[in-house]
Amino acid sequence: SPQVPLIVAIDGPAGSGKSSVSKAVARRLGYGFLDTGAAYRAFAWFALERGVDTSEAEAVTATLPYFDYTIGTDPDGYAVLVGDTDVTEAIRDPRISATVSAVARVPEVRAFLTALFRSIAREQPLPGIVVEGRDITTVVEPEAEVRILLTASEEARMARRSLEISTQSAETVAEQLRSRDAADSKVVEFMSAADGVTTVDSTHLDFEQTIDAVIDVITTRTARN
Ligand code: DC
Repeated sequence: SPQVPLIVAIDGPAGSGKSSVSKAVARRLGYGFLDTGAAYRAFAWFALERGVDTSEAEAVTATLPYFDYTIGTDPDGYAVLVGDTDVTEAIRDPRISATVSAVARVPEVRAFLTALFRSIAREQPLPGIVVEGRDITTVVEPEAEVRILLTASEEARMARRSLEISTQSAETVAEQLRSRDAADSKVVEFMSAADGVTTVDSTHLDFEQTIDAVIDVITTRTARN
């Protein structure tokens, strides 16, 4: 078998449990883990820090050469660094969630981060890496050995996300999630599975069952090769 890291690409909407499931799957298989949403969030943080008007695509693009970004691939603990600043916590702020879609729709930003994700995946030691986001199965790693769309009903996603964010009302969380998905969907399609992508619907699965379902897909896919 070729001595290149096996890539598992996982996409899905906000609140699908993508990050926690992908991380757990990576941990169980001894794989690395890459949260690409964290990179988009870190870039949004950076743009805001520099006082950039994030509705101005040209101003956003002009900051790209200064974006010095580091992320680990250890599923048991990865820090997100911009320059020397640890932004692991800061990028989860609602202020970032409200801004990130605006920077993520700039094509130059997507091209820059896509190249970065590909190089991180290829530098990953064996046996492989789980890469999670919105356009991993379609744009970043369309040739990945395993490609999965992790979905859940809107109701289930809202409920899970509002459990995570206890500082805001369920209605506020639902409204923010809906508007972010609507904005993000205009840029990349992640609500339905592309050709060759396996859908795992977690609406009626608990966390452990979802992990098992994803691992089943990986086992089936890799056994075929
Ligand atoms: O998964 P997340 O909520 O942390 O992602 C943050 C934002 O980044 C999300 O609103 C959409 C964007 N994103 C993207 O456009 N492409 C990716 N591969 C990952 C995230």
